[in-house]
Amino acid sequence: MEGCRSSTEYNRALLLEAKRIEKSYGGVRALRQVSFALEAGEVHALVGENGAGKSTLIRILTGAVEPDGGAVLLDGQPIRDNSPHRSRELGIAPIYQQPAIFPDLTVAENIALANETGGLFRRVRWGDRVKRAAELLESIGAEIDPRRLAGSLSMPEQQLVEIAKALGGKVRVLILDEPTASLTERETGRLFEVVRRLRDNGSGVIYISHRLEELPRIADRITVLRDGETIATVSAADTDSRELIRLMAGRDLSAVFPKREVPIGEPVLRVRGLTSEAVGIRDITFEVRAGEILGFAGLVGAGRTQVAEAVFGLAKIDAGKIRLNESRVSIKSPGDAIEAGIAYVPEDRRRHGVAAELPIRANMTLSILDRVSNGPMLDEDGERIVAESWAQDLRVKAAGLDAPAGSLSGGNQQKVAIARALATGPKVLIVDEPTQGIDVGAKAECHRILCDMAARGVAILMISSEMAEILGMSDRIAVMRGGTIAGIVNRADATAESLLAMALGGSAQ
Ligand SMILES: Nc1ncnc2c1ncn2[C@@H]1O[C@H](COP(=O)(O)OP(=O)(O)OP(=O)(O)O)[C@@H](O)[C@H]1O
Ligand SMILES: [Mg+2]
Repeated sequence: MEGCRSSTEYNRALLLEAKRIEKSYGGVRALRQVSFALEAGEVHALVGENGAGKSTLIRILTGAVEPDGGAVLLDGQPIRDNSPHRSRELGIAPIYQQPAIFPDLTVAENIALANETGGLFRRVRWGDRVKRAAELLESIGAEIDPRRLAGSLSMPEQQLVEIAKALGGKVRVLILDEPTASLTERETGRLFEVVRRLRDNGSGVIYISHRLEELPRIADRITVLRDGETIATVSAADTDSRELIRLMAGRDLSAVFPKREVPIGEPVLRVRGLTSEAVGIRDITFEVRAGEILGFAGLVGAGRTQVAEAVFGLAKIDAGKIRLNESRVSIKSPGDAIEAGIAYVPEDRRRHGVAAELPIRANMTLSILDRVSNGPMLDEDGERIVAESWAQDLRVKAAGLDAPAGSLSGGNQQKVAIARALATGPKVLIVDEPTQGIDVGAKAECHRILCDMAARGVAILMISSEMAEILGMSDRIAVMRGGTIAGIVNRADATAESLLAMALGGSAQ
């Protein structure tokens, strides 16, 4: 009889277990008495607000961080001398929130380095390495040439390489810390197929995500962390987003902020025929009006981030014109863009986002130093007041605003980067995946802030891989395909299907 039931229903063996884990950083108790059990053949989701302790728990499971107390067990046996190397040997394959690739090596070399023993420079057959990398990438549906330099990949492409890396070796436990944060529907679907395949073959998968609506598609059980404590473990089939949010936040909370319709004014940013060979975009033409949110949709690699980079002076422009209000502007550097009133929140907020060693408050006000300074002197009180108000609005969870930004959880670092761009009071705001990695409460808050800015006449260009965000927040939507704009549609005329068809090159226009 039992053979008739799917392996995900019951009778699963305990695979990896965390028992009564304790971890403090200075005065911050990141985890208190946290227990977590992963069974073979299940996808176990781990959810919680930004700073709840998810990534810390993962780092302890993989031996990257040592707990102050408690134990990690594999097959019922404590893992002795746990370390990233040791746990990888045991078949625990983590994919961290921030890709950890070597930018100066090729994709194939990065994948090989993670999986070959004997070092990168032992005698190898390069052709075999490239072939193996190509197979792994293809198995997850990633269209990436293994010979490319890893540093040239976009953030989501790097994420896909991370996944290929993890799948290259023995995988008993796959750990995904927000893998879909910057992936579009299509890549997410492919990733889920890989995850299901592993599960059906008896591996266990730990899955961290802030996209609660995707959990029913992928998770068997869900464990909720709040303020470093385990709150509940529930069956995914018996719960819904609302209940999860209540468990995560400890109270009822709205997950969505409805878009506010505001009067749309004159065009503020006009881009004509923008072409940049360096980043592979051509003939980009669009305008964004005061009060308008122009969404940018498209598949990973379609060139959305590159348009933002070109407009912000981060990519060399070969042809095309940019006008702000009525005047033509020449943007050759981010300095020129800021001068012209453009602010940019990049997607890869680790590389361009926060200065890890500077205090949180300094990070938030870096872009408005002139306003929090008194002549050459920094007005610390002024800085603190500005930073505190942003920290409150975006619900930044921190030990204090003097703490270094690097000590914040992933999602809280994102909030700091957002605050910094918003603080400049720009005419044009470019946001790339504004709510990626941010918990549901802060996401609604972030949407509210974008609407407030639109209401004040800011022209907003919003790149997002999340269809609900694109359809919910945009006034018009530009769909990119292969480095150019395939079409621009009004929100009223757009559906998820029609946008995807345009992104793929289908007929729906
Ligand atoms: N290296 C560190 N130094 C100081 N504090 C830290 C460090 N790493 C984590 N913390 C603190 O531990 C707590 C838990 O952080 P963690 O990164 O585990 O959160 P998370 O649940 O992964 O959040 P997110 O959803 O934002 O990624 C936070 O308060 C964070 O500031
Ligand atoms: Mg995290």
